[in-house]
Amino acid sequence: MVNSFTHSMFGKIGSTVCRLGLSGTNRPGKKVIYKALDEGINAFFCYGFDFQTISVLRDVVRGNRDKYVIATGAYNLIFGHPNLRRTLEKRLRQLGTDYIDVFLYLGVMKEKQYPDNIKDEFCKFREEGKALTIGISCHDRKFVGRLADEGTLNAFMMRYNAAHRGAEQDIFPYLSRHNPGIISYTATRWGYLLRRPKNWPKEERIPTASMCYRFVLSNENVDVCLMAPSNEAQLIENLTALHDGPLSDDDMVFMRRFGDAVHDAKKYFM
Ligand SMILES: NC(=O)c1ccc[n+]([C@@H]2O[C@H](COP(=O)([O-])OP(=O)(O)OC[C@H]3O[C@@H](n4cnc5c(N)ncnc54)[C@H](OP(=O)(O)O)[C@@H]3O)[C@@H](O)[C@H]2O)c1
Repeated sequence: MVNSFTHSMFGKIGSTVCRLGLSGTNRPGKKVIYKALDEGINAFFCYGFDFQTISVLRDVVRGNRDKYVIATGAYNLIFGHPNLRRTLEKRLRQLGTDYIDVFLYLGVMKEKQYPDNIKDEFCKFREEGKALTIGISCHDRKFVGRLADEGTLNAFMMRYNAAHRGAEQDIFPYLSRHNPGIISYTATRWGYLLRRPKNWPKEERIPTASMCYRFVLSNENVDVCLMAPSNEAQLIENLTALHDGPLSDDDMVFMRRFGDAVHDAKKYFM
């Protein structure tokens, strides 16, 4: 399969994914998740408590497991972390599957929170076939760039949006050697990219949600851009991003300018 605006071959798994992925964290309702499936969404991210998503996935993966790419993980906590193997086994049971496509160590803030013993345990999960790919979600982008270049991990999840574009320098240039799968989140920057920052002229337009997802999808390094709609109307609007294709040059310039305004207006770093 050749990668396109709408679909990607996820890293080395060899599965074709729709590049707009769904997280059900905002509890849009099971009907909305089934609707996303009907519309061709086949990449999902879930935690153990995303009961709507888990229930729908458990239903649809039976007999069709290879049609879906499921990402989940275990969280690095302020003090320690949950038992990684127990978390993985529980997620397998919850989802009614014998493997997870992308198993991530989540919430890593800095390099020292990811010691070798944790990396080794994740590698074992992959050797055992319980995780097809392993990776981290990490806010230290330079560390992620080094890990991508080194090649042991084969999936990464990261913040990337019009206001937070640091991955363009720190991560994306380091993907070509090993081609890991890339999942992005915060396309709307917690909704801030959908409203006027104080420093933005009143007469100027502001982005639509679809433009925020198209901004991310216009970057070919991203395999899956997550969305977390709160309801069916948001899902339907977000899906138009797939049909509308890459942003025009003008809209790209606009999104970067607006992203800079949102970034500059922030009160504290998130
Ligand atoms: N790896 C990590 O460390 C990490 C960190 C954060 C998140 N995540 C995961 O990533 C998932 C995706 O989160 P995200 O922030 O990337 O999702 P997102 O789609 O960028 O943002 C979701 C929010 O955007 C608003 N929205 C979405 N579509 C809209 C539309 N059509 N019109 C107006 N507003 C719209 C909604 O706000 P309203 O609800 O206000 O309407 C919704 O709550 C999360 O659910 C979580 O599972 C992972």
